[in-house]
Amino acid sequence: MRLSHLFVASTAYLHGVLATTQLPLADETLMINGVTFETRARWMRLANQALGELSGSPCPFAAFGTVIVNHTASDEGELICMGVNENGKTGNPSSHGEIAAITNCTNILTDPNGKFRLTATEVAAAFTDLSLYTNAESCPMCASAIRWAGFREYIYGTSIARLIEKGWGQIRIPSVDIFEASFDLPYPSRLMANVLANETDPYFLWQYDPSYPCPLGCSRTKSGKSCKAGSS
Ligand SMILES: *[C@@H]1O[C@H](CO)[C@@H](O)[C@H](O)[C@H]1NC(C)=O
Ligand SMILES: *[C@@H]1O[C@H](CO)[C@@H](O)[C@H](O)[C@H]1NC(C)=O
Ligand SMILES: *[C@@H]1O[C@H](CO)[C@@H](O)[C@H](O)[C@H]1NC(C)=O
Ligand SMILES: [Zn+2]
Repeated sequence: MRLSHLFVASTAYLHGVLATTQLPLADETLMINGVTFETRARWMRLANQALGELSGSPCPFAAFGTVIVNHTASDEGELICMGVNENGKTGNPSSHGEIAAITNCTNILTDPNGKFRLTATEVAAAFTDLSLYTNAESCPMCASAIRWAGFREYIYGTSIARLIEKGWGQIRIPSVDIFEASFDLPYPSRLMANVLANETDPYFLWQYDPSYPCPLGCSRTKSGKSCKAGSS
């Protein structure tokens, strides 16, 4: 009896330790890598705005927006590119916002007539300077792509747990698990969670909840099933 108690206690202890080491960074009073929360909030807002700019609607159903920023150039950061979920546009089921942005940045950085004109080898190295902001936590496919790219920082808004809570079908592997399992890869990456989630959540909480208000600039369709740009 005593032994089994001990076992339970030590297992609980172990779980406690694991859970603690796996908690992603989510404290907005901190200045991580010299960047303030206000600056991060500005880029996260741009990830939201990318929806309107690239998809043509501030309230697309798949409201996943990403911006890729160079904070090593300056603490304020420089925009390299953005991307939004393009599944509906291209039919390619892997064109999530993060993948679309990584593809867009690769094209922009290697464009022979563009500002950067990098070679393939140079572009691979360039990602290790960059920060990826995405308005919702990446699925395991995108989180893996972020680790393969070697991004210096990865910052997300709404969590996968929150998406699931509000009706989204998701592959239930949090980014922090992908990061923890990728220790063989050459570049470390800093993960920041729930950044400005109070402003990213509204883009994701209406899709399966008819009582939830549409994002700013949108209103319910007559059937109430979806949101569209404009007033009703
Ligand atoms: C990011 O900024 C650093 C520091 O200024 C610079 O060396 C690097 O070329 C920049 N990367 C890109 C892709 O602009
Ligand atoms: C790529 O990013 C640029 C710069 O942010 C943006 O102007 C452009 O529309 C993006 N292209 C695509 C296909 O998302
Ligand atoms: C969301 O929260 C941040 C602090 O975490 C705050 O700066 C921002 O103003 C809030 N946004 C809204 C729309 O209330
Ligand atoms: Zn994804």
